[in-house]
Amino acid sequence: MKIIAFTGAGISAESGIPTFRGKDGLWKKFRAEELATPEAFFRDPKLVWEWYDWRRQLIAKAEPNEGHKILAKMEEEFPDFYVITQNVDGLHQRAGSKKVIELHGNIWKVRCVECGHETYDYRAPLPEIPPKCEKCGGLLRPGVVWFGESLPLDALEEAFRLSREADVFVVIGTSGVVYPAAQLPYEAKEHGAEVIEVNPDETPISRIADKIYREKASTGLKKVYQYIKERYGSKG
Ligand code: OAD
Ligand code: ZN
Repeated sequence: MKIIAFTGAGISAESGIPTFRGKDGLWKKFRAEELATPEAFFRDPKLVWEWYDWRRQLIAKAEPNEGHKILAKMEEEFPDFYVITQNVDGLHQRAGSKKVIELHGNIWKVRCVECGHETYDYRAPLPEIPPKCEKCGGLLRPGVVWFGESLPLDALEEAFRLSREADVFVVIGTSGVVYPAAQLPYEAKEHGAEVIEVNPDETPISRIADKIYREKASTGLKKVYQYIKERYGSKG
């Protein structure tokens, strides 16, 4: 039995990381769509890096919460369990999840826009903004996917394949408005998965959900875990 947990910013909200479209989502009056684009970056790399540096500092101080931990525990318990995440904060991995597909990259990755050199830099705050490439001195960008950019092909293909194979597809803390990621629940549903949503608010995905927990990730996932064990047995 294949179980997929598909996560968005809402799962990290209880770790103190603001969601993008929630009330704390604005940074210095900018919306994510105004900062997370190649155009914004090349117009003002310093501004965009200040935003990422701020988020990196929040994430560095944050701890995985109960929601992340329940998903890590489920991976241990169920042999065919995967996390597909839109998050770039790495909190799933820090909670112990190993089978994690990152659709939008990782905030600790940096990539040179001149020579393509890619590396991880965990310093927060960064000593210099915008940071420069250690190989060629070129401008570094965050290793995340911006609006208007393609998702990493390997991750995207694997995410679509896993979603089509899923028996249970749990959607946690995403507004379901950013494509192609938002397509995955529909893909799963069309191929026969039971779709479960955990979100305090209604989303476009609610319409196709077979089961809905209108609550926070921590308490909602506890119930999802219980439900899956009762419905499908403890080994899935
Ligand atoms: P959003 O900020 O759009 O949505 C967060 C969702 O989490 C909302 O539906 C909230 O109702 C829900 N939520 C809030 N608190 C919650 C909690 N404690 N437990 C569970 N759910 C909660 O974030 P995403 O859907 O992840 O893309 O946004 C998708 C993409 O847009 C992001 O990956 C990012 C962003 O711009 C890129 O950076 C490319
Ligand atoms: Zn370089």
